[in-house]
Amino acid sequence: MPWLYLANTKIMATFEPRTDIDGGLAARRYAHIIGWGMAVPDTALSNDELSTFVETNDEWIFARTGIRQRYIADEGESTATLAYRAAQQALEVADILPTDLDLIVVATSTPENIFPSTASLVQDWLNAHEAGAFDLSAACSGFVYALNMAADSIRAGSIKAALVIGAETMSRILDWQDRSTCILFGDGAGAVVLQASDAPGGVLSSVLRSDGAGGDLLAIPSVGSIDANESRAGANGYKLYKMYMAGGEVFKFATRVVSESIEQTCKLAGISVKDIDLVIPHQANLRILQAASRKLGIDIRKFMSNVEHYGNTSAASIPIALCDAIEQKRIQDKNHIALVGFGGGLTWAAMVIRWGVPKPSEQHSSLLNRQRRHVQYRIAKWRSRSRRWRRRVNRKVQDMRN
Ligand code: UT7
Repeated sequence: MPWLYLANTKIMATFEPRTDIDGGLAARRYAHIIGWGMAVPDTALSNDELSTFVETNDEWIFARTGIRQRYIADEGESTATLAYRAAQQALEVADILPTDLDLIVVATSTPENIFPSTASLVQDWLNAHEAGAFDLSAACSGFVYALNMAADSIRAGSIKAALVIGAETMSRILDWQDRSTCILFGDGAGAVVLQASDAPGGVLSSVLRSDGAGGDLLAIPSVGSIDANESRAGANGYKLYKMYMAGGEVFKFATRVVSESIEQTCKLAGISVKDIDLVIPHQANLRILQAASRKLGIDIRKFMSNVEHYGNTSAASIPIALCDAIEQKRIQDKNHIALVGFGGGLTWAAMVIRWGVPKPSEQHSSLLNRQRRHVQYRIAKWRSRSRRWRRRVNRKVQDMRN
């Protein structure tokens, strides 16, 4: 079946496994973003609509946060479906096949389940059967953590291509009676494809940090190794499965770590803060970005902000902002981009990327690749169903034998 062959043959050709000739140093590997995509639900919820069922108003929300609206997942949508849509777009831009992927990481605080992971669901739906998959929990810093893990694996030579996704359905864990949190968050997903290349650039440096002593400032008490019952959550002032945030404390923490960690990661990358062309921060509150811009001495116009349209989408906010920045042509070749995330844990993370999108040298025509991707998505559905069906038949046969 030639179409099956076409769909399953790897097309990445830039990077063959490294061979050390005469024991010499192998070529240095770099991890470049070569694809990006995002997805939000269809339904937008404006501040005015919110104020019909929560005691708040558009003036307060916009003045204190910069948010005008957010997207809310409909019944059929979930973290995994949003992640899948963003992933398909990212693969389209990268123009590689799902079977070219070696790793899928989904950063999320609202996973589909504890396990199977959201990443494994996406892996199955994409037919990325050569990839490992796992979820990563670092709240709103999760995307930068995940990108760092994937970039390190590429640079170490253990993988060639990774799909890194930030995806959330925050609307499902909000306390819609708590006006101090429910007005802030929204749903969405963003994804990037990271690929090995010998062209210098890509992810240059990162700083990952945590301060567990601040864990009680921002939390979603849920199922875990401790007894997560209502009364225990209540004793701590929390509601089970609902987000709790001490907003003022988190605000102070955020303004401190954004500037500090950008300075640290710039130093590691060997550049000055002044060399940063665009900061893509976690989109929590416009006032946090204004404070960070003052502290760093970077013009606020160099801070990407789209919080107005999406609210705070936690781990999804940075890749969504990256997609918007590319769409608005705010990123050019060789630009230095700083990503910075902060949130529950407490956690924070910053990264410097030198932008450049080295595509595979041996490209098939894009149209052909697109067709091959679509064949793979179809195969994925058929493959999963047939495997489940086979398992069921085997069980029945086993039962009949016993
Ligand atoms: O993504 C994870 C990281 N998260 C963050 O970085 C969030 C950081 N925190 C924040 O962005 C801000 O602290 C908030 C936006 C959450 C709150 O802003 P604030 O300026 O710190 O407001 P506040 O909590 O100090 O409240 C000020 C006043 C209070 O009234 P009184 O006591 O001064 O009379 C609140 O009751 O605003 C009142 N208020 C509201 N009024 C209308 C609080 N929430 C609302 C609301 N609508 N939704």
